[in-house]
Amino acid sequence: MALLGVNIDHVATVRQARRTDEPDPVWAAAEAELGGADGITVHLREDRRHIGDRDVTLLRQTVGVKLNLEMSIADEIVRIACDVKPDQATLVPERREELTTEGGLDVVTHGQRVREAVRRLHDAGIIVSAFIEPVAEQVEASQDVGCEAVELWTGAYAHAASPPERDRAVADLRAALALGHKLGVEVHGGHGLTYRNIAVIASEPGFLEFNIGHSIVSRAVFVGMRRAVREMKGLLERYKPRESRP
Ligand code: PXP
Repeated sequence: MALLGVNIDHVATVRQARRTDEPDPVWAAAEAELGGADGITVHLREDRRHIGDRDVTLLRQTVGVKLNLEMSIADEIVRIACDVKPDQATLVPERREELTTEGGLDVVTHGQRVREAVRRLHDAGIIVSAFIEPVAEQVEASQDVGCEAVELWTGAYAHAASPPERDRAVADLRAALALGHKLGVEVHGGHGLTYRNIAVIASEPGFLEFNIGHSIVSRAVFVGMRRAVREMKGLLERYKPRESRP
């Protein structure tokens, strides 16, 4: 069964709507852990639109499970990551020019810059994952620049407008999963996964970790973070693959 990383960015989004001190993402992380989260994920954006430097520092001190920092490859952010030392850094695009057509980091085009960021993060003892589209060249480039993991963008699956589109998206994910395993990188998944659409993806063999944010935080508004996480863990358990590898 894949591990669940809970992205708590949108708890900070609500806080920032009033620029006050609640709800506190640090509390959210503790509640998520109590609900069974295997990891806590936050994105320290260059514009600090939700998660701030104070959050990352406190989370490093308080999170007992894996702390995964989503981050751009901007020099300032890499410097902060090397200082904070999350367990894992997931490199994501923030600027338009770092994007491929839909949502992942274009590691093929930005190979040199990504390689340099990976080197600095490795020197700080941080495991590095790249958030990429499920495209062979991106998986290969990520492995080539030294990433230990790739997080496959599941947006095409999540936003598919028809069953054939959805099937194509699943086939792309399946091919990228197989290639990742062949190249010896861990394969994670994330973006747009919800309580309603997780079953198909959760039952694909080979995903080691899912990072899920918006849907869990949305449900937590009604039932609390602990229960929201417990419910998503329950779905991962119910739909876990029968075999563990592709
Ligand atoms: N994984 C990565 C790399 C992301 O950037 C995000 C969005 O912040 C997520 C997972 C979570 O996506 P969602 O909020 O749609 O579950």
